[in-house]
Amino acid sequence: MADLLIKNGEVVNADGTVVADVLIRGEKIEKVASSIEVPDDIQVIDALGKLVLPGGIDPHTHFDLPMFETVSADDHYTGHKAAAFGGTTTVMDFIPQTPGMTLKSDVDLWHQKADSKAAIDWSFHMNITQFDARVAQEIPTLLDAGIASLKVFTAYNHRLRLQDREIFQLMQLAKEHNMLTMLHAENGDVIEVLVEQALSEGHSKPIWHARTRPAWGAVESVLRASSMAAQTEAPLYIVHMNTAGGLDQLNYARDRGVPVMGETCPQYLLFTEENLLRKDASKWIASPPLRNESDNNALWQGLSDNQFQVIGSDHCPFFFDGSKPIEYEGQQVSIPGKELGVNDFTKIPNGLPMVGDRLPLIWTAGVDKGKITAEQFVAQTSTNAARIFGIFPQKGVIRAGSDADLLIIDPENEVDYGVALSQHRTDYNLFEGWKIKGIPEKVFSRGEMIVDQGKWLGRMGRGKFLARNQTGETL
Ligand code: URP
Ligand code: ZN
Ligand code: ZN
Repeated sequence: MADLLIKNGEVVNADGTVVADVLIRGEKIEKVASSIEVPDDIQVIDALGKLVLPGGIDPHTHFDLPMFETVSADDHYTGHKAAAFGGTTTVMDFIPQTPGMTLKSDVDLWHQKADSKAAIDWSFHMNITQFDARVAQEIPTLLDAGIASLKVFTAYNHRLRLQDREIFQLMQLAKEHNMLTMLHAENGDVIEVLVEQALSEGHSKPIWHARTRPAWGAVESVLRASSMAAQTEAPLYIVHMNTAGGLDQLNYARDRGVPVMGETCPQYLLFTEENLLRKDASKWIASPPLRNESDNNALWQGLSDNQFQVIGSDHCPFFFDGSKPIEYEGQQVSIPGKELGVNDFTKIPNGLPMVGDRLPLIWTAGVDKGKITAEQFVAQTSTNAARIFGIFPQKGVIRAGSDADLLIIDPENEVDYGVALSQHRTDYNLFEGWKIKGIPEKVFSRGEMIVDQGKWLGRMGRGKFLARNQTGETL
């Protein structure tokens, strides 16, 4: 890797902004100082008037994930590439548990999918969707495989859900072995009843996805799991929080010293159930569902007040119309998608494209609109995830000794966004026609420029697996 000096940029870290030069040697940042002189043979990039930010860390992606009769449309190459174009240089993906198999075989399978394709650095979490004595015995061995975080679900009955007693036992185990429990918070029983009723009454449209997954389920599940965190003293990280009431419960628990942290996502800040009444509503189907404007506002306030720790993407894209191919890197690609649920909302694959949109959209709607500061942006999209998941200060900060993962943004540059610019391997973008700022001009991963002015310079297989043998900080 050639050495490089980025001069005169405003270097934004979670704890402050300074005008400084950043010297990169090989894969690492060697020095950050007000004026650095280098010999003529070192490449210099002038970032005057630009911002230099730590690469984004997205702790919530689903690449190549089988769902219903299909698979999520980005794999561990196309998803990494899309992430990089949006300024994200580290991702963490969830490994689904195969009932009856060892966790090790699932981890091996996810490495087979990811290792040769990875274009940026990545890590894994393990979903635990079947819990018994054998699984409990195997969980601590995940640490030897570099996996220190476990996701559990209080929804998706008969598929992914664990019972409360199992979640409680898993949290005791996680506490004992210094692992982090992550929680999908909805009420699976209520959803099951409401879905049965809706279908029997002939309701098939996408809006019923939201109507059968009430916000109250998220509210009580956040509190229920927080009470288990209080009783086990085990840290808990609640993923994709979408409701004002859930945030209230998170605050209730945190105010009492319970080690619980919260993640929200751009979709829950920027869209509402109104989107599920559109003709193309299935594009917005995700679980948990979009809610209303007062939830959006409360979630923004939660970011502004540092009540949430992280903004993840929950990137889980599907084609809107998988019968029509798109061109991707010169090939025609089509993958069955949202059309699978055209006559039945329960058959619409759950999830949406977001990994590449996350940073620019939060910059545009958050920082540029004065809802959060640039430093909070860095904390919530990068630094806090690095700290919580135990990869700080290797990642998530621009400082001497850290990996040279960073991006350069021209804060004045505004573009007309949409599917033509976003790099996800799917046939739509949720922000079609939006005016967006914060798209990085240049993106560096371990000192290598992988995106330059909209040009892809990265490649398959260059990403490194980040083994994490213990969890990080409780923020
Ligand atoms: O709809 C979503 N979010 N799909 C991904 C799975 C999950 O629960 O995060
Ligand atoms: Zn989830
Ligand atoms: Zn998810």
